[in-house]
Order: sequence, then structure tokens, then C-alpha cells
Amino acid sequence: MKISDILENAIEEKLNHVKLTELKQYASQLSEKYMYQERTGDTLLNTEIEALAYSIMRMPATYGAVYTALKHTLERIDGNIQSVLDIGAGTGAATWAISELLDTKNIQCFEREQVMLELGKSFMNQNPKLKDISWDYMDIVEDDLDVKADLVVTSYMLNEIKPENRKDVINKLIKSSNHIILIIEPGTPEGFQNIKEVQKRAIENNLYIIAPCTFQGVCPLPNEDWCHSIVRMERTKVHKVLKSADLPYEDEKFSYIAISKEKCDNSGTRILRHPMIEKGKITLKVCHNGEIEDMIVTKKDKELFKMVKKKKCGDWI
Ligand SMILES: C[S@@+](CC[C@H](N)C(=O)[O-])C[C@H]1O[C@@H](n2cnc3c(N)ncnc32)[C@H](O)[C@@H]1O
Repeated sequence: MKISDILENAIEEKLNHVKLTELKQYASQLSEKYMYQERTGDTLLNTEIEALAYSIMRMPATYGAVYTALKHTLERIDGNIQSVLDIGAGTGAATWAISELLDTKNIQCFEREQVMLELGKSFMNQNPKLKDISWDYMDIVEDDLDVKADLVVTSYMLNEIKPENRKDVINKLIKSSNHIILIIEPGTPEGFQNIKEVQKRAIENNLYIIAPCTFQGVCPLPNEDWCHSIVRMERTKVHKVLKSADLPYEDEKFSYIAISKEKCDNSGTRILRHPMIEKGKITLKVCHNGEIEDMIVTKKDKELFKMVKKKKCGDWI
């Protein structure tokens, strides 16, 4: 998967105004912060150059994660989604992905960092389909969210909220949705703990889980394990330069949960780990209707074997 040419060009155009060596330095500092800095609710970035570094380093991956999570979600519901809120929109990655999958211009982006908001808005101005999307300042911890939409999305934001505020923020997101709430987090043990917290709130509020779970209940995975999906993104030219990377792609691991205010059937089988492929045999760790199982598919089962061979961690069977 790849971000659109319009977005790639919009990002590249900004490079004319900065020194590449300086940008590289900010990009590497930002990676360190995202990997190691404790989440206290304080801002992780607030200068124009940091926002640009974020958009180059992270937007393709977060775009891919939101696109994949929303695609899986839409495959499981008959929803008519006419309006969307993108909370903690950053530089707009989620909205770029959403607009590939949904035919609505009624998307509102909310963000608390002015530099992210301005950069996100300027990227969307380059796309006729997105140039009228509204962007507003909002701090989801401090402010009331007094708008509602059919779909409420927040990607890679929950982990930036101080742990003691997360419950309130999740409740606000739930309250502001008419139908679906989609929350995406990094595919790490910490990110997955946040997803489990959302699952807990969903169950408490008598809501329904659409994806990725295969039953309506508390996740049966042991605490030391975590559930994630993977999306492979083509690297942009400038991403390769900033990361000093040779590989033409990167694999983004993400955890997510989609919940619904309407009843839905999420039964099925989902692959939890990278399939182990041996000669004539594939071993899969799966979540099947809420049970964690090892599944072995052999060549004898020709059709299933062929189908499963193409699958990866996070896919459905
Ligand atoms: C890692 S970025 C993710 C941006 C975007 N959603 C994406 O997926 O690329 C997290 C964003 O959440 C925003 N954020 C963090 N805390 C926030 C809060 N309390 N209210 C609103 N936005 C917040 C940050 O400013 C940042 O832009």
C-alpha cells in the first residue's frame, strides 16, 4: 500500500522551505521520543519542523493502519456512514485514509497542536476532495466534545493521554458517536493495553465489538501477549532519506478496535501471529469465536491451504 501521490507531493513540496540535515536531526529525535518518552499528557511536538518530520516519518504508516482497520470494520457491518470525527487528527493521516473508503465530505478534524493542525490543513488544501474538511482546535481532555457523528476515529492518540484521563476520553469518544467508534493504537503491548481498556468500556456500556475480535467479550489473551495487525507500506523517497533506509517498504504493526452501538455479528477466525509455513503444512495461532487455538492446515485441504498461504497476522480466514 502507498499514500496517494497528492499527499506525497504535498509533503515533498514543504521540503523546499527547510534544511534536510536539520529535518533529519528532528526526525531522529522524534523517533526517540515516540519510542521512549513517558506519556504524561504533555505535548510530544510543537514546532513546524517537528510537525513536518512527523508527517514524513509517521503519516504513511498511520494512514495504512487506519485504512486497514476501517476496511476490516466496513466488511463486517451494513452501516451507512454520513459523518466522521477525526480526534487528535495530527496532520490528517486518518482522514486521508477514511476518504479513500467512504464517500462523505462531512469529516471534522480536531487537534490540539496548532502546528499539526495547520500542516494537516495545508496538505488537504492540495486535494479537491479534502479541501473543505473542517479543522478545529480541541483538547479532548480539557474540552467538551459537543458534536456527534456516525463514525468517530482516533488513531495513535490514546497513548498520548495521561493514563488517569484515558477512561474519560474513551467515554467522550463513545458519547460522540451515533454508530461506530474506531480506535487505533501502536501494535505494542502498551498500545494493546489501551485497546483492551476500550474493550472494557464497550462491554460496560452494552456496546458491540465489530472487529478485530471474534466474539463479544473480554479478550482471552494472557496479559503478556498482545493482538496486532500488520500493514506493509511503500516508503516515500523522502522517508527513505530521513530514515537512511534501503528497504523500499516498512511494516507497521498496529492494534485496533471497532465498536458499534448497533448489534453485530463478529464471529469468525482471525490470525494472531505470523503463519508458520513448512513444507506442505501451515501452523496458525488463531482467535476462533473467542477461543485462542493452534490451527494446522495441510496440503491435503487444497483450497484452504492455498487461501491461508496468502494470509498474514491480523487477517481473517
Ligand atoms: C501520534 S499523533 C497521531 C496523529 C494522527 N491521528 C495520525 O494517526 O497520524 C497524536 C496526535 O494526538 C494529538 N493529541 C494528543 N493529546 C491530545 C489531546 N488531549 N487532545 C487533542 N489532541 C491530542 C497530538 O497533538 C498529535 O497530533
